[in-house]
Amino acid sequence: MSSNQLDKKSQAWSALFSEPMSELVKRYTASVFFDKRLWKADIQGSLAHAEMLQAQGLISADDWAAIQKGMAQITAEIESGAFEWKLDLEDVHLNIEARLTQLVGDAGKRLHTGRSRNDQVATDVRLWLRGEVDEIGVLLGELQKALVDVAEQNADTILPGFTHLQVAQPVAFGHHLLAYVEMFARDAERMVDLRKRLNRLPLGSAALAGTSYPLDRERVARTLGFEAVCQNSLDGVSDRDFAIEFTAAASLLMVHISRLSEELILWMSQSFAFIDLADRFCTGSSIMPQKKNPDVPELARGKTGRVVGHLMGLITLMKGQPLAYNKDNQEDKEPLFDTVDTLKDTLRIFAEMAAGITVKPEAMERAAKKGYATATDLADYLVKKGLPFRDAHEVVAHAVKDAIALGVDLSELSLTQLQAYNPAIEQDVFEVLSLRGSLNARNTLGGTAPNQVRAQVARHRARLA
Ligand code: ARG
Repeated sequence: MSSNQLDKKSQAWSALFSEPMSELVKRYTASVFFDKRLWKADIQGSLAHAEMLQAQGLISADDWAAIQKGMAQITAEIESGAFEWKLDLEDVHLNIEARLTQLVGDAGKRLHTGRSRNDQVATDVRLWLRGEVDEIGVLLGELQKALVDVAEQNADTILPGFTHLQVAQPVAFGHHLLAYVEMFARDAERMVDLRKRLNRLPLGSAALAGTSYPLDRERVARTLGFEAVCQNSLDGVSDRDFAIEFTAAASLLMVHISRLSEELILWMSQSFAFIDLADRFCTGSSIMPQKKNPDVPELARGKTGRVVGHLMGLITLMKGQPLAYNKDNQEDKEPLFDTVDTLKDTLRIFAEMAAGITVKPEAMERAAKKGYATATDLADYLVKKGLPFRDAHEVVAHAVKDAIALGVDLSELSLTQLQAYNPAIEQDVFEVLSLRGSLNARNTLGGTAPNQVRAQVARHRARLA
């Protein structure tokens, strides 16, 4: 086949076809306009393959030199925007190979020895995704650091802790933020873990059955930094479980982002007024002059649906595919690309936004006071005075009911009033009924006492350093 024949995709594979592909089918089956994003990984994979072919004596040293030279030129062309991507050449792989052959002749045609686009594309996607997973790991670290900073500044700031979105017990705002740090830390762990399974080399599986050439797959794996070689050629070319696993981890990450977004939105609303987000993360309204809307967290909450959608798309794409490679798998790319883009943008913007939160401690404390957040503390106090917990719970329920009727907090009842519920109550109860006393009392590992929060801040800082 001559190099100008390779330019015409309708004839690219063989003389078997007696009519050219229809324009509609060409457009329908082509992937170059999205998979050209894989160009760097494609060239990297091709170079590693060619280097091995040469080491195994399957191509000459001259061919290897020509391939390197050609690939260097192609790299420059793509980087400068001069490279001409052709729909007729279907995908990134055929575009680069055709250009290589145009530039270096027969050496370019020898590159595909012992290789198929099936193991080539599986290798490219893994290589590309590995780099993205590493970047996402770094961005997750940045977001955690930003949250840890705000948490440290707010180790003492009192926030009403909620269950059922009803005031439950006071917590430190720092403690609340560190809950998200825990979530994002697990998300980062998931990335590290899935990277191990992602980082295995399919190349050498060829079309599906392996190849008759004496390839050195371990050598290619070492060159490309893969930890292992896929041990079954059918599996190597066909499974996209690594992409599904990544998208699943991405979905969980976005679910955590979405939960945080929901809280930021609530906290910024006038009814809460616990925080303010910097103006640069908000927008106004074209009709209501007073409005400042938390668009960024709202959009992030919305984009969570999009990423979860990609997970559904990929997992459904895989379902029912017989071994080995099927063209269905070409559909893995757009969801994967969009998931990566969405994740990276969202993580960057959240790290910046977290650093720019204005905390309004008085509003938080006022809200905590309104909700009888220290009722459990009074029950615990009575338990320490010898009452069984269930009885203490009942006594305090009566006290809260009366306080609500009087429109006061428990701490605003007089000692005499409190003693009417139980004579064991003494003057020291007022420390127990204070928000700060309640906070300080929860001084067990993982609890909200400010010194526990500070200890966690120190642990996270050491971990994230
Ligand atoms: N563009 C294809 C993909 O993304 C490359 C592999 C095509 N292989 C084939 N035999 N048609 O999956």
